[in-house]
Amino acid sequence: MAVDLTRIKRNRTQAPLTLDEQTMRDMGYRVIDAVVDHLTDIRNQKVLNVKSGRDLERLLGQPLPRDPQNFDKLMDDLENHVFQNITHHDHPRFFAFVPGPGNYAGALAEMLTNGFNVFCGTWIGGAGASEIELITLEWLRRLVGFPAGARGVFLSGGSEAGLVAMATARNVKLNNDPKNAIVYCSDQTHKSLDRNLWLLGFRPEQIVRLPSDDQFRLQPSVLSARIEADRRAGLRPFCVIANAGTTNTGSIDPLVDLSVICRREDLWLHADGAYGAGAVFCEPGRKALEELGLVDSVGLDPHKWMFQPYSAGCVMVRNGFDLRRTFSYSAEYLKLIEESDEPNFCDYGIQLTRDFRALKLWFSLKVFGADAFEAAQVRGMELAEIVEKRMRQKRNWHITSSARLAVVTFRFQPSDLDEATCDELNREIVETFNGTGYGMVIYTKLNDRTVIRMCTINPRTRDVEIQQVLDLLDHIALSLYKSLIGRIA
Ligand SMILES: Cc1ncc(COP(=O)(O)O)c(C=O)c1O
Repeated sequence: MAVDLTRIKRNRTQAPLTLDEQTMRDMGYRVIDAVVDHLTDIRNQKVLNVKSGRDLERLLGQPLPRDPQNFDKLMDDLENHVFQNITHHDHPRFFAFVPGPGNYAGALAEMLTNGFNVFCGTWIGGAGASEIELITLEWLRRLVGFPAGARGVFLSGGSEAGLVAMATARNVKLNNDPKNAIVYCSDQTHKSLDRNLWLLGFRPEQIVRLPSDDQFRLQPSVLSARIEADRRAGLRPFCVIANAGTTNTGSIDPLVDLSVICRREDLWLHADGAYGAGAVFCEPGRKALEELGLVDSVGLDPHKWMFQPYSAGCVMVRNGFDLRRTFSYSAEYLKLIEESDEPNFCDYGIQLTRDFRALKLWFSLKVFGADAFEAAQVRGMELAEIVEKRMRQKRNWHITSSARLAVVTFRFQPSDLDEATCDELNREIVETFNGTGYGMVIYTKLNDRTVIRMCTINPRTRDVEIQQVLDLLDHIALSLYKSLIGRIA
């Protein structure tokens, strides 16, 4: 049904920015239809759509509208020129970076929280919403294995989770003075760490990235030796950032050994679980992340492997008081007061006005049940194993890191090509494959060599799609290889 917005202009009895009931319902139905059409038709859409800024400006650039516009035209423009020109991170054949499979219940929860315009910064501002946040955090706390005194907060994503955790660590261990302090992590740690530490007043040389082992994990003996050397040099080791699932290979650093070192050396141990720690919803994930409860803080992203729409991150701190005394918005003396059962979430992070991010996770867990989350995560892990198995069977392909937490990497490497030529060839394979629009993968560097990486956390991916993607990669690789050989000969 067409939505007539010109009625708004004519209806002088209504306050500005107000719609009559029928118009609101009609607009809502039109919006819901657009979302459902997208979700049910996504397989037929191209994964990757990137137009130039100039082309998009030509399609979308318009002066500020003074009057209500034609709503159907507006929706058509959005569907045809905006949502058709994004890379669909929720596409079942999107395997690049970290996919964002999303879920419909989570999307509806966003509509609800925006519709009710929930303020979740203080208890008085949003008691019911804060209670849901507390309940959802409590579910996560138990899954992570933190003690009852742990506290957390929902925020924008892994980057902000790292920032809040590092600010807490700086406060607790350094009394906020970063001079000569050193943070340790592996060469696989996510780049957002550097920006977070820069924001907190650390210089690049205060971040020590140590070489990882053959499974891309931080090596405790290398860490211990470096801490000792730094102390001898008069520096102040204060924090270790462990990976609970690297973006590159899904590797998990040895959390038990790291926690022993950190306790002995009085260092803060943070786990970046933005990608991997979401897997605590499933048995194999919990097993792999078994010792997560030993760390001082952990970041985990609902908008990654907990299937929530962007954006939703979460940070949890083992000793909740550390988080609160670092961020408390209240007067200084209040920081010492025992926390009540009715927290003001503005005291746990950097936002005062906060939206109700917990709702989408809570709502989708209620709608689908945690068993469905478990099944979805197990499916993601299986898909990566299928990729590994099939690539092992293909000629000239080598697995460069086995399926771990739904991430697998491989490389096309015929024996007659040198490493550098193979690097270039693998880049070309990825670019050509992505150019087809059928699927999307990425290349990354492991041990200085270019490899192809797939992250298979979308539970809607079908076996046959995996087969087709791998066959297409192989086909592209062979034809690029043949033309390369032809050029060399
Ligand atoms: C391991 C890891 N840490 C941190 C981040 C940053 O998270 P966000 O993009 O949600 O800020 C990412 C993003 O992919 C990640 O994979």
